Amino acid sequence: MRSSATSYPEGSAAFPHRGLVGIAGLAPHEIMFLLDEAEQWVDLNRHAQKHRDLLSGLTIINAFFENSTRTLLSFEIAGKRLGADVVNMHAATSSVKKGETLLDTAATLNAMHADAIVIRHASSGAVQLIGDKVDCPVLNAGDGQHEHPTQALLDALTIRHAKRAFNGLRVVICGDILHSRVARSNILSLSSLGADIRVCAPPALMPVGIEAMNVAPFHNFDAAIAGADVVMMLRLQNERMQGDFIPSPREYRHLYGLTLDRLSLASPDALVMHPGPMNRGIEIDSNVADMVERSLITLQVEMGVAIRMACLDVLTRRARGVEGWA
Ligand code: NCD
Repeated sequence: MRSSATSYPEGSAAFPHRGLVGIAGLAPHEIMFLLDEAEQWVDLNRHAQKHRDLLSGLTIINAFFENSTRTLLSFEIAGKRLGADVVNMHAATSSVKKGETLLDTAATLNAMHADAIVIRHASSGAVQLIGDKVDCPVLNAGDGQHEHPTQALLDALTIRHAKRAFNGLRVVICGDILHSRVARSNILSLSSLGADIRVCAPPALMPVGIEAMNVAPFHNFDAAIAGADVVMMLRLQNERMQGDFIPSPREYRHLYGLTLDRLSLASPDALVMHPGPMNRGIEIDSNVADMVERSLITLQVEMGVAIRMACLDVLTRRARGVEGWA
């Protein structure tokens, strides 16, 4: 399934948003538009010569106030492949550690005339706050427990490469749903694309009222995984927990870990996903994570670069005066 199932309007009407703070507020055709835009970059990235001058002269700042490996690297590679000047700001060595407020940091970034700012922050809502204060587009690379829109887009692109259609696709998302911005953004995007979503977590890690997000909640993983087409596993977000949410990692693996035995309860061609970083032997066993024919985990990383190239291109079109976008 490479081409869009939905049609979208021409020019900026296809994606009329100034930035990308979340999947909430995006129409299904806007999500499909970004996925379709990413396909050209999937192709380019598979060639030896991967450089384009599309964003030449533009400055992109990656302001990461929280740790990251793949998201930061993939935004950096995406910006550089499109020819932009990319600068990474690491909070650990910045003035944030000297007590500067978020709004002062925003004003500083703005004064440097960035053309796009990519932000990761531990507080839900921080990206919107900065977005309201700066003149350029902001892209959310994960804000607290709120959203991680490019992760959901790369997950949708991965699913689209591996499966035929989103409509009626049975997806189970299992793990620390409560603290997961990945779960939240994926629920919003996959349900708006027509997937049938089950979420599974221990009672303490299931958000109250999650049914309102159009998902079926489960506490029993064996029941939740039955017949699933896609099994998406999540890490326990220990850094967002105060106190103990699970009895022990061993007990957690026993009840909620993706083992080979458990995967056999899913549909025979079920595919396995994980946003990373994985805690092998806790939420997922190595012999499942490394199954070449079933695991999409490295494909997810590959799709991440293409999706971020698409987002950076689309969101800077207005500033670049691209026809139909100015
Ligand atoms: C996720 C995140 O940071 O929210 N990782 C990622 O972006 N690939 C998930 C996680 O940290 O568990």
